[in-house]
Amino acid sequence: MIRSRSRPCLVREIAPLRRELAAWRRAGDTIALVPTMGALHAGHIALVEEAKEQARRVILSIFVNPAQFAPSEDFAAYPRSLETDLSMFEEAGGDLVFAPSIEEIYRPGFATSIMIAGPAAAGLEDRFRPAHFAGVALVVAKLLNICRPDTAIFGEKDYQQLKVIERMTRDLDFETRIINAPTVREPDGLAMSSRNVYLSPAERAAAPQLFAALTRCAGEIRAGAAISVALQAGRTALAAADFATDYFEARHADTLAPIHSLSEGPLRLLAAARLGKTRLIDNVAV
Ligand code: PAJ
Repeated sequence: MIRSRSRPCLVREIAPLRRELAAWRRAGDTIALVPTMGALHAGHIALVEEAKEQARRVILSIFVNPAQFAPSEDFAAYPRSLETDLSMFEEAGGDLVFAPSIEEIYRPGFATSIMIAGPAAAGLEDRFRPAHFAGVALVVAKLLNICRPDTAIFGEKDYQQLKVIERMTRDLDFETRIINAPTVREPDGLAMSSRNVYLSPAERAAAPQLFAALTRCAGEIRAGAAISVALQAGRTALAAADFATDYFEARHADTLAPIHSLSEGPLRLLAAARLGKTRLIDNVAV
């Protein structure tokens, strides 16, 4: 365990982490966990702020989880910036960073998987990233077991992921309370993401069109437009802005089931679209 005067504690292994957390619990401190893959931005820090509201102690986990990346995806290229992350977390007033190695999380002989349907099989991200949510569920289940936090915070930016984690924690009787935090955006509306650094200047200029299309579509539906017509207009706008759209859909906000009219329940619009090699996801409430 490395502790310098002003830095949050950095822990690499499960055993010393558990010893530290046990001491916190003995002192009566509540614990909130913010799971991340690092390359922190203001969206992650907003989760840390929410965690501070929820508990006396805040842990940030940083782990680029190979299990949730397909072989064709950007695992190797995924941005890594531990020093900056530590400074940002320190600035935000967090207590401890858990940044394990791959071997610490997936020990030799590792053979367990989590199969999850429901929101993980909604036909959104799962259609384009078939093994993704199994990988997310596995690592989140492990992090919750390792840290046993009172609360864990997840962003609405990854809305389907949030629903998958809510489902899994209910189904498997995790005691941790799952809290969601709203999406933090750049001033022009682009949802903050560690992957935004991949965008070329021209792509970055076009990127806010995704949120703009979702917002416009939500406004049209609220004003009484047929959902299918409003969605089609959104898809057309994205194509005109040079996006290759994977999906642009209206779903029940809780179950993620397809929905055809506002009367069927709370509605969420979810989209994924590619600009060049970069894939952006976003969503809005209606
Ligand atoms: P990562 O993409 O690093 O995101 C960590 C957390 O930050 C997630 O809960 C995500 O929804 C949230 N987040 C990301 N961008 C945000 C934004 N602009 N506003 C608000 N919250 C935002 O999501 C993951 O990592 C991984 O799948 C993980 C859950 C850590 C499992 O490996």
